[in-house]
Amino acid sequence: MKTEISFSAPSQAETECLVAVVLDRGQNSKPNPAIETSDNAVASAAADLLASGEVTGKIFETTMVHRPQGLKARRLLLVGGGKAANFSGYELRKLSGAAVRFLKGKSIRSFSFVAPENWSGQADPSAHSTLVFERGGLAEAVKAVVEGAFVGNFDPDTYKSDRKDQRVEHITVLAPGKQDEARLRRALEEGRIVGESQNFTRELVNEPSNRLTPTVLARRAEEMVREISTNAKGFRLSIETYGADKIKDLKMGAFWSVAQGSDEPPALIIVKYEPEGGPQQPVLGLVGKGITFDTGGISIKPSDGMEKMKYDMAGGAAMLGAIRAIALLQPKVKVIAIVCATENMPSGHAQKPGDVQIAMSGKSIEIINTDAEGRLVLADGLHYARQLGCTHLVDAATLTGACVVALGMVNAGVFANNEEIYERFARALQRSGEKMWRLPLDEEYKEQIRSSIADIMNTGGRWGGAVTAAMFLKEFAEETPWIHLDIAGTAWMDDNKAWIAKGPSGIAVRSLVEFVRDFEANGGRSGATGGGSGINAVGTLAAQRRADSGAGL
Ligand code: BES
Ligand code: MN
Ligand code: ZN
Repeated sequence: MKTEISFSAPSQAETECLVAVVLDRGQNSKPNPAIETSDNAVASAAADLLASGEVTGKIFETTMVHRPQGLKARRLLLVGGGKAANFSGYELRKLSGAAVRFLKGKSIRSFSFVAPENWSGQADPSAHSTLVFERGGLAEAVKAVVEGAFVGNFDPDTYKSDRKDQRVEHITVLAPGKQDEARLRRALEEGRIVGESQNFTRELVNEPSNRLTPTVLARRAEEMVREISTNAKGFRLSIETYGADKIKDLKMGAFWSVAQGSDEPPALIIVKYEPEGGPQQPVLGLVGKGITFDTGGISIKPSDGMEKMKYDMAGGAAMLGAIRAIALLQPKVKVIAIVCATENMPSGHAQKPGDVQIAMSGKSIEIINTDAEGRLVLADGLHYARQLGCTHLVDAATLTGACVVALGMVNAGVFANNEEIYERFARALQRSGEKMWRLPLDEEYKEQIRSSIADIMNTGGRWGGAVTAAMFLKEFAEETPWIHLDIAGTAWMDDNKAWIAKGPSGIAVRSLVEFVRDFEANGGRSGATGGGSGINAVGTLAAQRRADSGAGL
């Protein structure tokens, strides 16, 4: 999808469809819909509709008008954004996605979206506004519209032979008035990079396991790195992929214990992003669970719903999408993505309950259930990341059904062994609009994974399963500040929504990108006092923006 920004008046836009947001400014239950534009011609074109009571501004309400009076657009689409007081980037992103999905169903391939100018964006008054965009500013609006449009435009590939591709090909964001044009162009570009990267992740997650083996995942990562590195200036993006021999050489006994049961070779994928002239530290490690299919192994899963276990590599795919975006945005922070990819299969050479495995760190693990495989591959991934010099770690994994029981499909689980890194991540969540909820890591839980024969066991019994899985990982993050994301419930949408197709969601990509930006803005410190931007879509802008904001590194 092509993206463009225009600073001229919406009423003058010659477009297939002009999309404008309607918010409900009513204080009580009686709706008071108002169209979010300072262009009076657009407001008058919609005046009768708003007065009629047909349009209320309710979230995702869509009303299409043909040949709107006084506008150059062929159609006007009003999309409801809900109560004005609650309206934030979170809603705006979804509205934009909903507009794309509505219009693509009507074979409209090109449209213009009026970015709301005067929205408050005060969804969370405690939100810090120290980075590129003040919350609620026009730049945040532009970025949210573009990100949401990419999310909405994605439909998972099917292998139906009569498949018809219906995609929006062109979106123009209208940001009229006297604005800082360079800043808004940057916002547009950032939105595109992040949106495309999230969709890159979704494409990987969508692939069935016969078409996306660990080896193919590694090849797709290599292709991505090659594409991004062509003509790259100001940074280096490199990739190494290893197979079974190297995994055994490295003594990754936990990772190998899962891989040993499959006829498909495993892949250890390491992507390094190194900005020119950036500081040696911090180094952020992004470690992803890349189980391309999880049968459960010898502790085999019931067949009902097992087909969904092709998405058990969503954490790994999120790390690849995130580092793709990071390389294009070029923050001055080193990042290493590590994906531990393998199938989890039952076979004559599969590991068995009761087996004892020695992880790369030297810790011994009693295998109680071979279906608790994610934590095994991540144990070695996390340890390896530390060995490569990572000073901060984030892992993402479709780790536990227990997390889905606890939080459903709305929030992903977040765990942290350090308050500073948690605060930094929480700021990233506010900007990304992804929902995650913190769960605890008290020492008391560790008792549940104590083994009588080894240092720890790989399951902690029935209660608090998401927490005991995280406690297991904590043993391998050790003292390094670390965030664990359990995305089992959020990486796959079970139903179509107005703004996103059923299938892979691409969760965590946007938050990881915002998290890395925070490191540039605030250096190794976590304080929200920086004030500078992190990211530049165009290399040469980085220095200028840092100068603009006066942020030190
Ligand atoms: N990949 C699954 C977790 C999962 C469940 C992801 C549902 C997505 C949706 C993981 O490997 C697993 O099987 N976990 C077990 C752990 C148990 C054996 C301790 C689980 O959650 O049941
Ligand atoms: Mn499993
Ligand atoms: Zn799994």
